[in-house]
Amino acid sequence: MKIVKAKDYNDMSRKAANIISAQVIMKPHCVLGLATGSTPIGAYKQLVEWYNKGDIDFSEVSTVNLDEYKGLTRDNPQSYYYFMNENLFDHINIKKENTYLPDGTEEDSAKACADYNAVIHSMGGVDLQLLGLGHNGHIGFNEPGIAFEKETHCVNLTEQTIKANMRFFLSEKDVPRQAYTMGIKTIMSAKKILVVVSGEDKAEAVKKSFFGPITPAVPGSILQLHNDVVVVADEAALSLCEGLY
Ligand code: F6R
Repeated sequence: MKIVKAKDYNDMSRKAANIISAQVIMKPHCVLGLATGSTPIGAYKQLVEWYNKGDIDFSEVSTVNLDEYKGLTRDNPQSYYYFMNENLFDHINIKKENTYLPDGTEEDSAKACADYNAVIHSMGGVDLQLLGLGHNGHIGFNEPGIAFEKETHCVNLTEQTIKANMRFFLSEKDVPRQAYTMGIKTIMSAKKILVVVSGEDKAEAVKKSFFGPITPAVPGSILQLHNDVVVVADEAALSLCEGLY
């Protein structure tokens, strides 16, 4: 595991965008695994800027997102489908038909998850998976206690995650209670993994995930067993890890 220290959020975003753009340059028809949430927004902005300058071409890239809320339609501004279009896909030359997220409108969870696993397998797996890190160490919507061997599955969101995600909704009751997420097994099958983390409020999660015991109680800790992980974190997020890397 490689830890890259960034000065601040902007520096983290640029460094992460550099790694994603290197992946696209090295393999134009690559499969990118993407994340939503606040942390990757800066990296997506940077990629759009470089695309506009003519530095990156996404025409052959395919993407699979980590997760989607169950029950939200694609035109719901809180859906991850909407988020990805708004923050990235609408601004670059990616072919929309090559961008995939779990189908949040599919009520049959088993079908939604099997379909998504089939998509990921048919692409030959993910070349570079981008991840954010939850305050409780979650990755995707894999909450503490999750079995490491799962592929895409339906999860009940924890109270902590519902509260953390409430900022995007009108009120707590509007936050969906379930989501479809790639499982730890899916995430660990990616050839390379890039984790982005920013802010002092994530410092505890960073220390536990990357320097603590490997345990389902801290889902991100499994990443210590992957042989090609880069964590790009800002000084604040690394503030409890001095001397550990
Ligand atoms: C997003 C996702 C989540 C977030 C995590 C951190 O697709 O699966 O695991 O990466 O909750 O979220 P932010 O970046 O908003 O702090």
